[in-house]
Amino acid sequence: MLFFQLISTLLYTAESTNGKDDCVKRFTNPKDKTSMVCVCNTQQCHTFPRVKSLSGDSAYFYETTASGLRFEKSEIKNNTKNEWDKMGFRLKVITTERFQEIIGFGGAMTDAAAINIDRLDNEELEEILLHSYFGDQGIEYNVIRIPIASCDFSTREYSYLNTPGDFSLNSFHLAEEDQWKIKFIRRAQKMARLPIKNFGSPWSAPAWMKTTGHMKGGGKLLEGEKYSKTYAEYFVRFIEDYTAQGIPIWGVTVQNEPSLGEDEKYGFQAMFFPPKDQSDFVANHLGPTIAKSKVANRTLIMIHDDFRGNLPEWADITLANPKTDDFVSGIAVHWYGDRDADPMKLTQTKEKHPRKFILGTEACTGPGIDLGSFSRGERYAEDIIEDLQHDVSGWVDWNLALDLQGGPNWVSNFVDSPIIVNHTAKEFYLQPMFYAMGHFSKFIKPGAKRVSIKMQKVKDVQGIAFINQDGTVAVVVQNKGDFGVKISIEDERGKQYRVTLQQRSINTLVYK
Ligand SMILES: *[C@@H]1O[C@H](CO)[C@@H](O)[C@H](O)[C@H]1NC(C)=O
Ligand SMILES: *[C@@H]1O[C@H](CO)[C@@H](O)[C@H](O)[C@H]1NC(C)=O
Ligand SMILES: *[C@@H]1O[C@H](CO)[C@@H](O)[C@H](O)[C@H]1NC(C)=O
Repeated sequence: MLFFQLISTLLYTAESTNGKDDCVKRFTNPKDKTSMVCVCNTQQCHTFPRVKSLSGDSAYFYETTASGLRFEKSEIKNNTKNEWDKMGFRLKVITTERFQEIIGFGGAMTDAAAINIDRLDNEELEEILLHSYFGDQGIEYNVIRIPIASCDFSTREYSYLNTPGDFSLNSFHLAEEDQWKIKFIRRAQKMARLPIKNFGSPWSAPAWMKTTGHMKGGGKLLEGEKYSKTYAEYFVRFIEDYTAQGIPIWGVTVQNEPSLGEDEKYGFQAMFFPPKDQSDFVANHLGPTIAKSKVANRTLIMIHDDFRGNLPEWADITLANPKTDDFVSGIAVHWYGDRDADPMKLTQTKEKHPRKFILGTEACTGPGIDLGSFSRGERYAEDIIEDLQHDVSGWVDWNLALDLQGGPNWVSNFVDSPIIVNHTAKEFYLQPMFYAMGHFSKFIKPGAKRVSIKMQKVKDVQGIAFINQDGTVAVVVQNKGDFGVKISIEDERGKQYRVTLQQRSINTLVYK
């Protein structure tokens, strides 16, 4: 604690006059002038002070643009210039029409992420990286996903129960990798202003419990009471052991991407868990086992954790059993394939299961990394807006940090991440995807509600609005087009804020 206070005093209370809190721009692709990262090292890293008290008619407008602005802040007044009305577009926010409640935004503490943070090998720089995501002068994530044992973003294949036939879980133990994950999650929890919601997801049951005998490559959980019972206890042991280390587990998903495991030759750890089987497992084993654990009994269960294309059918089948329906709190969705699947599938799912929340639990761009790519940041913003417009309550990114190759990943399935670590240089890079996440996570807090907007159709412009519990309103507007757009953001109380959405920009307006 003392250490952290010292660091935060040294680094984050300094005035920005010397530039150490500003984005240190590095252009990363001579063929694409929009490719740029902000470089962070122990000397400097871009920080974002929290919004100070907003007075009656002023607002703050934050811009991230292809032309190189990053969270550029300006103060806007309720504005009355008449000429604007003729040339600008209008976006009307109706704060009295409210929809789904926000759970939050975050990323995954995979083995790869923890290894990359650890390899910085400098406690001060690790702290700066964690602060970028979780600190009050970072983008203030409040959700962390934790793989339960290994996934592809590990350096090896392992489970927590490696002794065949150990139905009493005598040999259950967390792995060496968990000690890194736990260390960094604890530090993230300490610096976060709001409680972090941690949730776990398994990629596969232990090899000996599967039809294939391997964690890699699909297959199903073996049939029979003792396998299902042991596997439910496996979840609870994970929850208990993390909780004992100071990391409460807010939720679990039953299985990461359960549809993939149908392919027995699948390229990494996977398990086929079709909806009817998942329903039985939750009703008869996972639900009751969690409910009767003194430590795990508050942990929420989420089903699906897979592509929206399988909705609403997979949720319908899983929740058809009223016992399962009672145990399940949420429906988790991944972004892969979103462009080929109608977002109305999310709305239909919410209409059919109104008591369940829908949470985005994984997203990434790829293949590999494309350092500084602005279009990858734009894709994040587009998808977040689309999901949240269709009843989704939050959006959780994949790996919190990757190396220059987009790994480590033991099957070479390299992808991109909002933070890329360069270990040899002892620096890390804030990519446009980081800013895209921040335009939401910084301003739309847990408990916020989406509110209605009425907007003239403007090509390439999309928006979304929320009201926080403290009454602040956050409007995120993205302009994907190659021209600036003047827009008047108004609400039912007579506020009017005129702003320009620069070409290819992501913008957040906050006011009270
Ligand atoms: C904002 O300006 C408009 C236009 O002049 C005015 O009608 C409205 O009352 C103002 N709203 C506030 C909250 O000051
Ligand atoms: C969970 O268990 C604790 C300890 O036995 C108990 O006090 C609490 O009421 C339980 N909570 C729920 C939600 O069942
Ligand atoms: C990483 O750091 C090394 C210096 O240690 C440098 O040569 C290299 O260009 C850096 N990589 C990138 C992608 O910036």
